[in-house]
Amino acid sequence: MNDRQKDDGYRAMSSGIGTNKTLRVSVIATIVLVVMVVLLLVLVLAPSIFWGTAQMFGAESDTSMDIVSFSTSDGLKIISDAGPNNLEGREPWLGAVAWTEAVQAGQEYANQFPETQPSVRILTELNTEQIWQYMIHISGALGVSCQYCHDLSNFAAYTYPQKAAALSMLILNSNINKEYISQIPEWKGNYVQCATCHYGSPKAMPAVSAENEAHLRQNPAIGELNQTWVDTPAIDPDRSYVLQHPTTGVMLNMTNWMQGNWGTSGTVPQPEEPASFVIDRQHFGVFNENYYAMPGCYTCHRGNLIPPGAINQVDLDTFGENSITVLPMAIRGITTP
Ligand code: HEC
Ligand code: HEC
Ligand code: HEC
Repeated sequence: MNDRQKDDGYRAMSSGIGTNKTLRVSVIATIVLVVMVVLLLVLVLAPSIFWGTAQMFGAESDTSMDIVSFSTSDGLKIISDAGPNNLEGREPWLGAVAWTEAVQAGQEYANQFPETQPSVRILTELNTEQIWQYMIHISGALGVSCQYCHDLSNFAAYTYPQKAAALSMLILNSNINKEYISQIPEWKGNYVQCATCHYGSPKAMPAVSAENEAHLRQNPAIGELNQTWVDTPAIDPDRSYVLQHPTTGVMLNMTNWMQGNWGTSGTVPQPEEPASFVIDRQHFGVFNENYYAMPGCYTCHRGNLIPPGAINQVDLDTFGENSITVLPMAIRGITTP
């Protein structure tokens, strides 16, 4: 309000009221009443007004997607708590029945072939019993039972494309930890594992934050490949923290490398061409005329400085020797697969 406006206001007030005493009293009484009613309304409505406004800016949808913690046991709960569903084809095979049957079949396979089989390509440091244990973590990370990837009558076979995708993912995960994560200056000891991107879903994980989905749609030019840096709210709403953080450079190189090479990472392509490169917070790229859903900063970070699905060296240490069945050395990038 400038002085001129203030003057006009005072003039209006002094000209409008105060011409006689009764009028003045009733005006004051009305003002007091109105103020009280407004205060009451504010008290009653404040929470709903707050949430309404927050929703308008997408805060609610964002928090519903943001994840504060995730462990593979959360994923195993997703599988076992699910009611019996359509147990055929390439479905996640949820429900306690499908899960128990598959885990037991794996145990029998391990009893039958205790030594690491020649069919194993990446997890060669583990014997079959240990592979079986690590498989339970993989399943929890993706929220699927073993049948999503395996024909239970032949665990060594590549019957379904999902198993081939998972093999490429083991290599990818190993490369990420070896070439990027462990190279972070002042690395805090967190490793990327399957759960760090998957958070209990086999596919359709969000790659961009709710805030930036709208932004990317409005500005298609910055949505092109290798422009992941725009999604700093994926890590922290305070962009300046991320932009100045020494780790950001490594993260940019890593995410750009993944997006640039996603076609060779061997995941399953989309059944048809997506209408846009950003849909439902997924980010698509084209490789050899196939469309793939790619990861972004948000896939791992989900609005947190440290991805809630990462696993720390300190926590791995608590498992002692068994830590290799939680995250094998090869997947940590410590030995070459
Ligand atoms: C997301 C896909 C996926 C899921 C889910 C999965 N596996 Fe696997 N499994 C693989 C891949 C890939 C390999 C091969 C690893 C390698 O070659 O290093 C494998 C290997 C194995 C092997 C060793 C096979 C051999 O060649 O000797 C066994 C046994 C096994 N899995 C059992 C299971 C069991 C039991 C479950 C469920 C608890 C399960 N898997 C869940 C992908 C999966
Ligand atoms: C594959 C998963 C993954 C992706 C994708 C990813 N990050 Fe990270 N990021 C991590 C992990 C794990 C850490 C923790 C590393 C550690 O222990 O020091 C981390 C740490 C960070 C930190 C340091 C946080 C702190 O307080 O120490 C920043 C900043 C960051 N990432 C920014 C980004 C940006 C920007 C992008 C996108 C260009 C990105 N990240 C993409 C996994 C990821
Ligand atoms: C850097 C993030 C990231 C990491 C780490 C990661 N994945 Fe993936 N994965 C993805 C993305 C993105 C897709 C594509 C999802 C889609 O098509 O919607 C995918 C797809 C897959 C698929 C194919 C699913 C389908 O049915 O189309 C499998 C299987 C899979 N991942 C297994 C794994 C396993 C096992 C690990 C751990 C060794 C792992 N992933 C680690 C990001 C990741």
